[in-house]
Amino acid sequence: MILLTGGAGYIGSHVAVALIEAGLDVVVLDNLSNSSPASLERVQSICGRPVAFRQADIRDEEAVHDVLKSYDVTAVIHLAGLKAVGESNERPLSYYDNNVLGSMRLLSAMQRAGVKTMVFSSSATVYGAPSYLPLDEAHSLAPTNPYGRTKFFIEEMLRDLYASDGDWRIGVLRYFNPVGAHESGFIGENPLGVPNNLLPFVAQVAVGRREKLTVWGCDYPTPDGTGVRDFVHVCDLAAGHLGVLRHLKAPGLFTVNLGTGEGSSVLQVIRTFEAVSGRTVPYEIGKRRTGDVAVCYADPVLARNVMGWKSTRSLTQMCADHWRWQTMNPAGYGA
Ligand code: NAD
Ligand code: WQD
Repeated sequence: MILLTGGAGYIGSHVAVALIEAGLDVVVLDNLSNSSPASLERVQSICGRPVAFRQADIRDEEAVHDVLKSYDVTAVIHLAGLKAVGESNERPLSYYDNNVLGSMRLLSAMQRAGVKTMVFSSSATVYGAPSYLPLDEAHSLAPTNPYGRTKFFIEEMLRDLYASDGDWRIGVLRYFNPVGAHESGFIGENPLGVPNNLLPFVAQVAVGRREKLTVWGCDYPTPDGTGVRDFVHVCDLAAGHLGVLRHLKAPGLFTVNLGTGEGSSVLQVIRTFEAVSGRTVPYEIGKRRTGDVAVCYADPVLARNVMGWKSTRSLTQMCADHWRWQTMNPAGYGA
């Protein structure tokens, strides 16, 4: 049995589908602070199998320990966490409490239960401003906001744990910019309030829920002046978790980027979204957003060499799948 912390969330629900479709048994632990149980009902309807669920907080070590024991868990995929960069600047202690302390309690519960296989959802944000591109895993780590630092400290905690006990099997996955949705349109990203990220904002403008997008800066040293990012389809990302589980058959700790290796600009995303949706996405040019870098994309070669993973879906498919999810669920899971 595989435990998914944060499995009711955006990426977690897609990982759940990938694992269940590969024949694995899954139990989800989530406090539902940023998700809805409806996502797991949708996962069940895609897979035709029930998903075990416990509503609990990763900081509750006893609850986590109980789930590990009751479900005979052999590996944990740890996605639970708060993820909004801006909010982390305003409420850093909540982020350290939830993400860092939560991960510490989770790892303590795993140690007590003798479960020593862990896959951790880290982020490209741990690199900070790139000093060269593409970003490979050897790039220095200098996150520029509290959220990114929580990811960095958790990574450090995992490296210390492995150094202390070489029986652990640990995979650290640094996601770039996950977008898109399952091709069924049943599950997808369901941001509460105003979306922080580009794709959900674009989708809500296209569907008429918001008037226009602000493009944060058009004077970057990029071909069209707007920011460039490595957008990766959430189903490709989910497949990476299967790859890592297969690779963790022996003790070790490895860290890989999950990205496509290709950068797309904000204007390219808008145009692609307009093409697949047949809608206009009105936008205005605003000032640069504080903390944004001009360009960020992955060197994805290590993930291919280490676990045979590579992304397969194009930006067009990412936008098309995001659009299908948005049109089938204009109010997200709240509909
Ligand atoms: P999400 O908010 O949709 O999912 C996170 C889930 O964790 C939610 O269901 C939430 O309710 C749950 N959760 C949060 N704190 C918890 C706690 N203390 N106990 C139990 N459950 C808790 O976010 P997501 O986009 O699916 O991200 C999943 C993971 O991937 C996060 O750790 C995030 O930092 C990381 N990540 C996300 C992105 C991205 O752009 N989406 C990029 C890089 C890394
Ligand atoms: C992408 C581009 C914006 C919104 C964030 C986190 C990172 C990781 C992924 C978790 C940038 C531009 C955006 C808008 C815009 N998350 N933009 N108008 O900032 O690359 O990464 O999500 O780990 O940690 O920082 O993603 O989607 O916010 O922005 O012009 O309304 O779109 O300026 O160039 P980002 P994003």
